[in-house]
Amino acid sequence: MIRIRDLVMRLPSGGRPLTILDGVTLDIGAGEVCAITGPSGSGKSTLLGLVAGLDRPSSGSIAVAGVEITRLAEDALARFRRDTLGYVFQSYHLIPTLTAVENVAAPLEIARAPNALGRARDLLDDVGLADRAHHYPVQLSGGEQQRVALARAVALDPPLLLADEPTGNLDSATGAQIIELLLALKRRRGSTLVLVTHDQALARHADRVVKLHDGRILNGAA
Ligand SMILES: Nc1ncnc2c1ncn2[C@@H]1O[C@H](COP(=O)(O)OP(=O)(O)O)[C@@H](O)[C@H]1O
Ligand SMILES: [Mg+2]
Repeated sequence: MIRIRDLVMRLPSGGRPLTILDGVTLDIGAGEVCAITGPSGSGKSTLLGLVAGLDRPSSGSIAVAGVEITRLAEDALARFRRDTLGYVFQSYHLIPTLTAVENVAAPLEIARAPNALGRARDLLDDVGLADRAHHYPVQLSGGEQQRVALARAVALDPPLLLADEPTGNLDSATGAQIIELLLALKRRRGSTLVLVTHDQALARHADRVVKLHDGRILNGAA
């Protein structure tokens, strides 16, 4: 599903370039749950953002479902993100002016899917939030907001789910529920899941744990 080779990310930092990813090589199979762990600043979010095509690497290659995304033009990259990915953020990133059901419907409407609001209601039901459909994000707890974000991320049935510390802002009991839900949504769809976390308990649920340190993989490549 994902084939990463010799991935390097350097950023200019006061004249001297800062190396954030330093030759990452990694294969993640279709349907796999892969956890990426490592201390703060080790490059986890940068790696996930590159796989999502949110940024371009300095060098190296990333193929997702056979497509070399580092060479895609912006419009093709936008289509790739829409058709292939669901992304879950630590801080939910819901649109504050939309209700829960409207947030979930947003990607369906952008993709011109029929009956977007009806499908969004079903998705909210799947994450146990049918009774919060017309609440705005500020009226929801952190765990509820992350449930809405999960429903939104899977709305277009993406083959690849990326989650960057999805439980990082939640207490451990709520975080555990979110992980259960994320895994259930993933299993039902047969999608691949790449999950960034520094929570060891969470990493336990993964088929594989990849450890990053100073932009390099310590174990578990390929
Ligand atoms: N846009 C940026 N400009 C400068 N430095 C950055 C930028 N993005 C990330 N970094 C630096 O790169 C390193 C890795 O960041 P990140 O990928 O966010 O790590 P992690 O998610 O593992 O905490 C950190 O030292 C961070 O400060
Ligand atoms: Mg991070």
